[in-house]
Amino acid sequence: MREKILVFDTTLRDGEQSPGASLNVQEKVEIARQLEKLGVDVIEAGFPASSPLQLEAVQRICSESHTVIAALARAVENDITAAWKALKDALKPRIHTFISTSDIHILGKFGSDRYGASLQEKQGTVLQMAVDAVKFAKTFTPDVEFSAEDAGRTDPGYLAEIISAVIDAGATTVNIPDTTGYTWPSEFGEKIARLVAGVPNISKAVISVHCHNDLGLAVANSLSAVERGARQIECAMNGIGERAGNASLEEIVMALKVRSDLHNFRTGIVTEEIYNTSRMVSAFTGMIIQPNKAIVGDNAFSHESGIHQDGMLKSRETYEVMTPESVGVPQTNIVLGRHSGKHGLQARLAALGYKLGDQELETVYRRFLDIADKKKEVYDDDLRVLMGDEMSRPGGTYLLDYMHINSGTASIPTATVRIKHDSQVYEESATGDGPVDACFRAIERALGIESMVSTYTVRSATAGRQALGEALVRIRDGNISFNGRGVSTDVIEASAKAYLQALGLRRLHFQNSTTETITDNGV
Ligand code: KIV
Ligand code: ZN
Repeated sequence: MREKILVFDTTLRDGEQSPGASLNVQEKVEIARQLEKLGVDVIEAGFPASSPLQLEAVQRICSESHTVIAALARAVENDITAAWKALKDALKPRIHTFISTSDIHILGKFGSDRYGASLQEKQGTVLQMAVDAVKFAKTFTPDVEFSAEDAGRTDPGYLAEIISAVIDAGATTVNIPDTTGYTWPSEFGEKIARLVAGVPNISKAVISVHCHNDLGLAVANSLSAVERGARQIECAMNGIGERAGNASLEEIVMALKVRSDLHNFRTGIVTEEIYNTSRMVSAFTGMIIQPNKAIVGDNAFSHESGIHQDGMLKSRETYEVMTPESVGVPQTNIVLGRHSGKHGLQARLAALGYKLGDQELETVYRRFLDIADKKKEVYDDDLRVLMGDEMSRPGGTYLLDYMHINSGTASIPTATVRIKHDSQVYEESATGDGPVDACFRAIERALGIESMVSTYTVRSATAGRQALGEALVRIRDGNISFNGRGVSTDVIEASAKAYLQALGLRRLHFQNSTTETITDNGV
């Protein structure tokens, strides 16, 4: 009988912390549904103290999920109270509290004398804060996880001490993050082995690992930790997360599955759902998957050279260590078109993991027909992009009602736009360096605002000249970024929609600005 490795998915928390990957509440709910279908053991749904929207998203996910839902909290009462407020309706709530434990972090983040004069005194304060946080979290739920942030660079003796203390305080999972992605696989495995051997009460808690990918070693480090005693792996779909990301869920799961000859472990993941989950996360976050990405990249099962193709035709095993079917890569491309009915669309969306209410289906069907009118064949990736666009539109943002562009090799690009917002209509024209610039300027003029566009990308969602174009625009306001996404067969229209969405999100943010940006230890 194989021992189960718990898969703790942090796509919606650490993954969402990827630069530019912010998700709205509806998108998070939809991804959580798909993660449940994928069979993850824990969904880390967010960091409720960091913003009202984070709190709302965790609440919404809790209201319909059967999986363990974790919410992150710094080791302070306010955060833990916010986490509980978000989690209290969950069937299986987990509070995940954390504090920094490495010398570098303690000296850097707890530099003030009120945490102690020397490193040793500060370590004592941090240990006490960790214990108090776990005890406080335990007053709400029996399922409490503690993370020693930057454990990868933490002194082993101090790490053992704090882990032992939080287990005595009631932590049921102890997480050892390699926060900066600094460790080496054998070194990280050794760290886990030392805890197994040196912490007397370690058997009362599950050892978890959470590896970042700064040196491209997150998956290797996680697997090494499993070999030495870890039984929960924290990871994110497509490997998204802070900086270079987290360990990628699909790589860990498939490595364990494909190389089951080397160990006695298993996961509960329904691997056939990997592809759909990966595409949904990519469509909603706007984070494009590199073609050569293991397991889920477009080229992961493509064979280009004649020798490889010949080998594959004779026997698949020559160049494939797993089948595309085993991770849910579709082998036939089902195509919809303008004659497809609403039920056909609903069934295809359901197969791709999207569950829609009657009203939502109505709206999506109207947009689908619009697209099908412009391009004859509508592929799965078109539908994913359409769903991403549909979900990303919170109420109260600006609507592009009309757009006219004049552009050519011998003329000055000129754009006219008409924008609707609430019951107001704004119309303006402008010229620019190119059609997109003219369009953005016309929008700014119409709305009487300006902004700093920090990133602008356009890509085609599917192959061919009729492909849907997806535009992503990021604007910056001080330290805060707002991302907009727009989709159309016309890339200028997609760009205008994306820009309007980013501007709308900025407006909404400053309108309800109770949002606190988490920048410190919370005390
Ligand atoms: O990387 C990290 O240390 C984290 C913790 C909050 C678990 O994300
Ligand atoms: Zn992390």
